[in-house]
Amino acid sequence: MAELRDVLIETMLLDEERFRQRLPGLVETHQLRTVDPHPADESPADILQNLDTLKLGSVTPFEREIIAKMVRLGTAPMGLTLTGPAYQDNPLRYATQTFREMSGYSLTALRGENLRLLQGPATDPESVATLQEGIDIWEQRTVELWNYRADGTRFKNRVTIVPLTGPDGSITNWLGVQKAIGTADS
Ligand SMILES: Cc1cc2nc3c(=O)[nH]c(=O)nc-3n(C[C@H](O)[C@H](O)[C@H](O)COP(=O)(O)O)c2cc1C
Repeated sequence: MAELRDVLIETMLLDEERFRQRLPGLVETHQLRTVDPHPADESPADILQNLDTLKLGSVTPFEREIIAKMVRLGTAPMGLTLTGPAYQDNPLRYATQTFREMSGYSLTALRGENLRLLQGPATDPESVATLQEGIDIWEQRTVELWNYRADGTRFKNRVTIVPLTGPDGSITNWLGVQKAIGTADS
């Protein structure tokens, strides 16, 4: 699974044209279900228009570009989350369908929240500190920690956070890749 995580991250970071070329191969190799209604030949303009119907509020052009890719990978077997602005407390901008199903939260409930809202009594403070350290020095980190769904049940979450460099060369956002790897009973 680490391999798929790395491929997803790498794919998200491609420019739009290369991403569109790469996506069909990714879907084939990892047997991902892509999200309708965004057929591969749909133009970026159409996708962005569809984003407006998601009522995301104000998003930067860079965020729109990333979110358009996330929508395409919405049911990939790992959740994808975008937070920003990076210099604030990383409020959530967008979360894919897989992440919403995994966490039990709707996009409306998550938007504007820091994802520490998933943490609770069983969450290991050392893992949280590892994420915090990565954020402080703008470096990618991966941890496994207990998170809590909206209904209060807990699951072990493998979280990778990746700093995203915007058009002006500074880090504007963070990408999260999340995988539920166990439950309280397993
Ligand atoms: C993009 C992104 C995704 C994150 N996803 C999660 C997550 O799924 N679960 C979690 O417990 N923390 C997640 N975090 C970490 C928290 O948002 C927060 O950074 C962490 O708790 C450390 O900060 P704190 O010590 O101020 O809480 C994520 C952070 C970022 C930037």
